[in-house]
Amino acid sequence: MSRINMIHHINIQITDRERTREWYERVLGAEFLDRGPALNRRQLQLRLGTGEIHTSDTNDPIKAPRVHFAIEVEDFDAMLAHLETQGVPYTRTAGGAFTGTGGEDPQQGVREDTGERYTYISDPDDNLIELVFHPRGLESSSGETIELTRDAGNVRWTQIEGFVEAAYAEEQVSVG
Ligand SMILES: [Fe+2]
Repeated sequence: MSRINMIHHINIQITDRERTREWYERVLGAEFLDRGPALNRRQLQLRLGTGEIHTSDTNDPIKAPRVHFAIEVEDFDAMLAHLETQGVPYTRTAGGAFTGTGGEDPQQGVREDTGERYTYISDPDDNLIELVFHPRGLESSSGETIELTRDAGNVRWTQIEGFVEAAYAEEQVSVG
């Protein structure tokens, strides 16, 4: 086998691409991943930190209680303040799905082993998202403190040079 480098993307069920894109851009700072017209029609993809969110269109999302994904934020308090300004509710127990740990604050908790701070929000299709922050940072397999991938914005996997531009040009020719 090969070692695994990282989780590359998660795929969520959505009912409205524009609503999803707007929400993830505004609330979480995601960026639209432009793959050219044909691939864009296939699914919506967003860049978020070092990972991607991919989507499955459906008119009838299957609700799966407690199923969620978690994202590490750089500044937890700043994120909570941002959620307040955006009117996005956040809770420690995710509407009662998770109880009994993390302290008494109804809006956020702390985990015992790492001091991780966490809270839960839901996207417009009720996909549950956990926001986490690890104050002790990240360490290598040999126990040395290591940095996360650093970039001013979201990182991206390198596309074939010129692919997107050519795809748009080709589409214009076939439409025209
Ligand atoms: Fe979790």
